[in-house]
Amino acid sequence: MKNILFLNIKSLVQVEDKEPPAFRAGKDMQDLPSIENAFLFVENGKVKEFGRMQDLNDEQKSVWLDSSSIEKIDATGKFILPSFVDSHTHIVYAGSREKEFEDRINGLTYEQIAQNGGGILNSAKRLQQTSEDELYHAAKARLFEMIGFGTGAAEIKSGYGLTVEDEIKMLRVIQKLKEISPIEIKSTFLGAHAFPKEISREKYMSLLVDEMIPQVAQENLADYCDVFCDRGFFTVEETDKILNVATKYGLKAKLHANELDTSGGVQIGVKHGARSVDHLEHMGESEINSLLSSAKAGNLTMPTLLPSTAFFLRLEYAPARKLIESGLPVSLATDYNPGSSPSGNMPFVLSLACIHMQMSPEEAINAATLNAAYAIELEKTHGIIRKNADANFILTKNMPSLAFLPYSFGSHLIESVFVRGEKQN
Ligand code: NIG
Ligand code: FE
Repeated sequence: MKNILFLNIKSLVQVEDKEPPAFRAGKDMQDLPSIENAFLFVENGKVKEFGRMQDLNDEQKSVWLDSSSIEKIDATGKFILPSFVDSHTHIVYAGSREKEFEDRINGLTYEQIAQNGGGILNSAKRLQQTSEDELYHAAKARLFEMIGFGTGAAEIKSGYGLTVEDEIKMLRVIQKLKEISPIEIKSTFLGAHAFPKEISREKYMSLLVDEMIPQVAQENLADYCDVFCDRGFFTVEETDKILNVATKYGLKAKLHANELDTSGGVQIGVKHGARSVDHLEHMGESEINSLLSSAKAGNLTMPTLLPSTAFFLRLEYAPARKLIESGLPVSLATDYNPGSSPSGNMPFVLSLACIHMQMSPEEAINAATLNAAYAIELEKTHGIIRKNADANFILTKNMPSLAFLPYSFGSHLIESVFVRGEKQN
């Protein structure tokens, strides 16, 4: 493995010398500790040293600069920041759903399409007919595309199987991705994504709690259990029942909540100590107070916002300002899936967060790095550049300022992505 010395970095962003916080909330989301005109030394895949160029000492200069075994990268005009953490994706899927995209252009809503045989059940039908191998290759291509956009850790959900066999098939694909992926992956069981049409609601509930969760846990196929707790999908009572069983089997909760309505999803998530509740387009005072109470209790449930879903479905955007001004943190993710967000482009998510949710570039970067790492329990290793941690970061192309990144929406400003000190592209 090559050791690397980055020199003349315009700004080394989101960097901490002392013990970093687990997340940044409220006003602190504006803080983004940075070193201007910096150097960064990577040894054996770890961040060994960083500082200001003018503070490079004589010994470092003579050892590092003269060593032919250390690759030097001149980062004049470029930024280095931690890789993004995409804490919410559904990248294991079969086919695509652009027909529904056209139906929406012609005036149908996401819910109307779902009721007419489209939506999640459409993807489930296709996934059930697709082999594990084919799913693996398609998902792998999506994963590497995400890495190219700067993602350095990700979560992947099941939820398009909706039978015992097909949910397990999806989770095995995620397991295989974990084995080959250069980046850290967390796996989430989302059997409770929709009710299949072929069997009764009661029968599917019993499949979930009596068969799927025990088997998933026994085969150690998931880190989390998710439920789509929303209008027209799983009720609060059903969610409660599923999460009780999941907890018993050692699966932590992460929820799809409040996308379509103030459905009670946030409160039930907090009750079960969910690591995150995601979507949150519909948020009232009670939801905010519930999240604040989780923070007070020292077990924060991270509110995770998915602006590319609101963009793609023309939903109302989640009230990021209201959450931040209440003192809460927020995190950002892509929700990469075939129905509501067919994109794994984190820089575009940052642009949407700034443009449509009025988050500042600093807040958006905190939300996509440190806070996103917390959402999948990777805050000790990801989301911030710190000494002796894995060298997971992005080197940007030339940029006049950090705000230029979300400002230049649609441009590809990620020059290279480093994972454990290895350049991926
Ligand atoms: O996160 N909201 C629920 N599930 C996915 C959409 C799934 C689909 O339409 O296929 C989401 O947006
Ligand atoms: Fe989702």
